[in-house]
Amino acid sequence: MRIEEERITLKDGRNLTLRSAEERDAQTMLDYIVKTAEETHFLIRYPEEISMDIEREKRIINDNLEAEDSVWFTVFDGDKAVGNCSISSHRNHIKLKHRCDFAIAIEQEYCGCGLGTLLMKKAIDKAKELGFEQMELGTYADNEKGLALYRKMGFQEMGKNLRAFKLKDGTYIDEINMVLFL
Ligand SMILES: CC(C)(COP(=O)(O)OP(=O)(O)OC[C@H]1O[C@@H](n2cnc3c(N)ncnc32)[C@H](O)[C@@H]1OP(=O)(O)O)[C@@H](O)C(=O)NCCC(=O)NCCS
Repeated sequence: MRIEEERITLKDGRNLTLRSAEERDAQTMLDYIVKTAEETHFLIRYPEEISMDIEREKRIINDNLEAEDSVWFTVFDGDKAVGNCSISSHRNHIKLKHRCDFAIAIEQEYCGCGLGTLLMKKAIDKAKELGFEQMELGTYADNEKGLALYRKMGFQEMGKNLRAFKLKDGTYIDEINMVLFL
């Protein structure tokens, strides 16, 4: 689903653009995905696990634009993608389609300036508009910044997936599952 383009201003005065990623953005989207995977261990993949197949990325972007139950909110600094958050239907089955999943990643250079809060507000509004009844996410138990943001937005902890993640150095990290009733 497409969103309307708008200009946004960070707390530190930087001006960015919020819009849907289009096919022409495939390369910058891949660069952003790799960069955010390099910067913290809080995303699901290590950088080398990310497919750099640009045609595949174009298909993913187009599929998302066409989907009625999935929305990306992508932030651009000029032509460069620097952040993204998404909501998508958990599953389309009758018993599950009241639930949507949330994900977010922002390049470190753009963190701590209110962008996470702004993107989450947009995503929550859109999820309500689309008729979802609850928004769910999972995060690393040591992601203090993420947890602080989610709690601030009203999410509550609903469970823990013990030792869900195992880092290359052998460290296990639990996954905290959270829900926001809309
Ligand atoms: C988690 C993330 C989305 C937060 O985005 P952000 O733009 O930094 O968030 P904001 O600036 O809006 O800050 C949101 C809240 O986080 C908390 N916060 C900010 N900086 C913090 C810090 N250094 N330590 C602890 N909490 C912090 C505050 O509660 C803040 O709210 P406040 O400014 O009203 O006090 C972003 O840091 C990120 O993408 N990190 C890397 C990838 C990631 O962790 N993704 C989530 C995977 S589940």
